[in-house]
Amino acid sequence: MKTRALKLTMTLLLAGCEMEGVFVTPEPQDERMVDQRRMKPFDPNPYFVDGRSMRPPPAGTIDRGAYADEETIAHGVDRGGYVKRIPVPRTRDLVVRGRERFGVFCATCHGVLGDGVSAVAEKMTLVKPRSLIDGNVPSYPDGRIFRTITEGYGLMPPYAAQLPVMDRWAVVAYVRALEAAVSRLDALPPALQAEAARTLP
Ligand code: HEC
Repeated sequence: MKTRALKLTMTLLLAGCEMEGVFVTPEPQDERMVDQRRMKPFDPNPYFVDGRSMRPPPAGTIDRGAYADEETIAHGVDRGGYVKRIPVPRTRDLVVRGRERFGVFCATCHGVLGDGVSAVAEKMTLVKPRSLIDGNVPSYPDGRIFRTITEGYGLMPPYAAQLPVMDRWAVVAYVRALEAAVSRLDALPPALQAEAARTLP
């Protein structure tokens, strides 16, 4: 029974292939996809207010290769060595952006204060995320922190895919701000230090 049903289906299928008009080769004049009306890049186009066919990129678009030639910005190195200072303007906006990105991508391991205290750090028994605000990191040139974010370091994965160049410098700026915040507290007179320890989070 099953075999008969199968035979019948096959016959019908094969007949379908021969049915006239099912597989149509398009006539050359019907190739509308190829010949459709379209504008060339520099053609005038009355449809848009500015009369151009080529549309300008949306505001805020960043060219992927924008910093490709600037070794210091794109790679954090200058003539073979790490750049000492962040090579882009250190604005308030940059630091604010850095704080936000740090919270998303770094604080999980290095702690909100950058001191290496976090729930993840407790579990990473093999090699712990370092403190970024004491130990060696404060003495590193800015370019080294940038490279660490770009390429990863030991058990730390790279974050180049998640953080574009400017975001990486923003994070570096925020790491520097965290360090400065700690060292300035230490520079306070003892009475004020005690008060700061009591009142600051
Ligand atoms: C998954 C956890 C994790 C995350 C997330 C993470 N790190 Fe790390 N990081 C580590 C560990 C672990 C080390 C120490 C690696 C080692 O010594 O092998 C480290 C080391 C470092 C160092 C020292 C590198 C050196 O050359 O000595 C810096 C600087 C650093 N991280 C910055 C960052 C910044 C900035 C971010 C956010 C973009 C970040 N890390 C995100 C785990 C992490």
